[in-house]
Amino acid sequence: MLRGSIMFRPRRYATMLPALLLGALFSLPALAWAALDPHGLLLAWQRDPTTTMTIDWHVDGSDRNVRVAYRAVAGEEEWSVATGSRQSLPASDRVIHRVELTGLAPDTEYLFKVGGYERERRFRTMPAENISRPVRIAVGGDVRGNEISRRVTRQAMRFDPDFVVWGGDLAYANGDERNVGRWYEFLDVVMREMVTPDGRTVPVVMGIGNHEVRGGYHDRNDHELRRNLPPYVQDDASRLRIAPYYYRLAAFPGQPGYGALDFGDYLSLLLLDTDHSNPIAGEQTRWLRKALADRVGRVTHVLPVYHVGAWPSARHWDGDVHRRVREHWSPLFEQHRIPMVFEQHDHAYKRTWPIRDGRIDPRGVVYMGDGAWGVGVRETGRSHEGVKAWYLDRVASQSHAIMLTLQGNYQSLVVVNEQGRIIDEYPRTGLREGLLPEAERWSLPARAE
Ligand SMILES: [Fe+2]
Ligand SMILES: [Fe+2]
Repeated sequence: MLRGSIMFRPRRYATMLPALLLGALFSLPALAWAALDPHGLLLAWQRDPTTTMTIDWHVDGSDRNVRVAYRAVAGEEEWSVATGSRQSLPASDRVIHRVELTGLAPDTEYLFKVGGYERERRFRTMPAENISRPVRIAVGGDVRGNEISRRVTRQAMRFDPDFVVWGGDLAYANGDERNVGRWYEFLDVVMREMVTPDGRTVPVVMGIGNHEVRGGYHDRNDHELRRNLPPYVQDDASRLRIAPYYYRLAAFPGQPGYGALDFGDYLSLLLLDTDHSNPIAGEQTRWLRKALADRVGRVTHVLPVYHVGAWPSARHWDGDVHRRVREHWSPLFEQHRIPMVFEQHDHAYKRTWPIRDGRIDPRGVVYMGDGAWGVGVRETGRSHEGVKAWYLDRVASQSHAIMLTLQGNYQSLVVVNEQGRIIDEYPRTGLREGLLPEAERWSLPARAE
């Protein structure tokens, strides 16, 4: 007999049958109601992260329970209940349930439960100010729902981040219904791994990248995934048509696909769209000009996050989209003395020298990124045709998360790789050269003056 197999004993089976049936009768409804988790769950914000929280969870279409029960961890015994909206997902049996909790206390932990699911989770609102405790953000992009992505997320969670920002290329589903399973895999990583070691569920802010869009860029009307769609125009309906999953799954920024998220007067995230569902030039650049003017000087940290980089580490810097970012946005960042921006898309780690007017300048902007959270990494300089990119200070072909800390008016970061090793830090703290062996010093500042 095979080890572990069960011998079939008809008589014993027959005597157990009524009990089994009875048990099934009582336990089936209980099982249906006692499921621990929905198919997917993610926390986000649509506005004021110090007093609100948006909770999305994904369920079968037959589940119509759009309620969240919540209470403060300390000092509240009674559960409050909030309700929200349902929205279907194209070519999917799943429905998005979204509830926004408002009127919460800043820097406070809450317990919550979604729909009829049993698991009790915990979140924390953002502090009203940034002096008494640091705020820590995990930044990256080019994610994908795979094992690398799980491992990098776990490494990031060890730093106890307040939230995660991903600047595009999330599930790599290309807006294509045939790839809806890639969203399921991605959302499973988010639900299961976006939890700190002490059990706090961490919100995620998701920007748009080329892999959220049919054809990748708004002007690819001739792409095969756009064959049955009307030509792109810059309006809500067109954006939803070319990025049907992104606009439904990402609570922020929502339409028009770019926006500002303001945290008290200490942080504003500016999430931008690098030609994917909106042109860089024109309306979006006018919006960015005003968004910066309204905030710089009043808000301590203004952090632009977007997908395609001004200064890429793997691709050639002459590409159209890279040039448009440099032409339309870099002058605004420089004018407002934005110290650091975050760009993705190249599937490597990079930190540039501070750049101003197309040359290295200590008053310039440091471009951080380059998007390798879970997707396979690229060799840096691959498309640079043998010419070393003068603007790169550090590069590494490694999966990573950038752990950014803000306190008072200070910003600093470390970069953690898939194995939990620190591969870069900024600003440099006077550690000996060579102590960070895994990042390559890319080039000397040939154009420094
Ligand atoms: Fe990517
Ligand atoms: Fe990309």
